[in-house]
Amino acid sequence: MRIGILGAGGMAEALGAGWAKAGHDIVVGARHAGRAADLAARLGARAGTLADAAEHGETVLAALPHTAMNDVITSLADLLAGRALIDCSNPIAPGPDGLVLTTDGGPSAARRIAAAAPGAHVVKAFNLCAAGVWAAHTEGLAVPLCGDDANALTLVRTLVTDLRAVPLDAGGLDRAGYLEATAAFVIGVWFAGGDPRTVLPPLEQSTH
Ligand SMILES: NC(=O)c1ccc[n+]([C@@H]2O[C@H](COP(=O)([O-])OP(=O)(O)OC[C@H]3O[C@@H](n4cnc5c(N)ncnc54)[C@H](OP(=O)(O)O)[C@@H]3O)[C@@H](O)[C@H]2O)c1
Repeated sequence: MRIGILGAGGMAEALGAGWAKAGHDIVVGARHAGRAADLAARLGARAGTLADAAEHGETVLAALPHTAMNDVITSLADLLAGRALIDCSNPIAPGPDGLVLTTDGGPSAARRIAAAAPGAHVVKAFNLCAAGVWAAHTEGLAVPLCGDDANALTLVRTLVTDLRAVPLDAGGLDRAGYLEATAAFVIGVWFAGGDPRTVLPPLEQSTH
């Protein structure tokens, strides 16, 4: 698959490494040419501008901070038309009582990205686990996906299974906000020293 990666940070490297290993044809695009070149060299991929990556990918991973997403995606909107656009962002920030959603009361980050690039097919995915998890321990991990376009979802499911993880269809893009809220909750619990996995025991432990 032709994959474009926007950004050359932690998520770009963690996900890109798995996809490069699976044999995909990757262009890493970043605002600083040296950072794109360094990551591309580590992945065995090619480097380019953000526009080069958007143009190259039938699937494009937006591995950018939520705060930068709107401007970058708007500037690439024409190039992203028809692409599967993966949004892994977590629009979260520290609040007085823990992490909060910076989108609170408004559209989800995924919906904002879809509005910034109306021709792209946005799929929310990969936002629930840390970059270090994607780099190391994805075997058997369930990866929820939210999106509206059947072809884009098929492409992203392939990229999930290439990481030896398991796609979990989680509804249309209108449900992406639930994944973003889940990230705010579980990351907040981890930051506070808790283990959010203990909140959801296996169903077999229920008496009903
Ligand atoms: N890290 C995690 O564990 C994790 C887990 C799940 C989801 N996420 C989400 O994944 C996304 C990426 O996170 P990350 O950890 O990979 O971030 P990161 O390591 O900080 O990398 C961010 C990348 O975005 C680029 N960037 C920042 N501002 C930009 C702008 N205005 N224009 C163009 N490029 C810009 C940075 O370029 P420079 O190097 O030039 O600054 C860098 O290449 C975020 O939305 C985050 O919420 C992260």
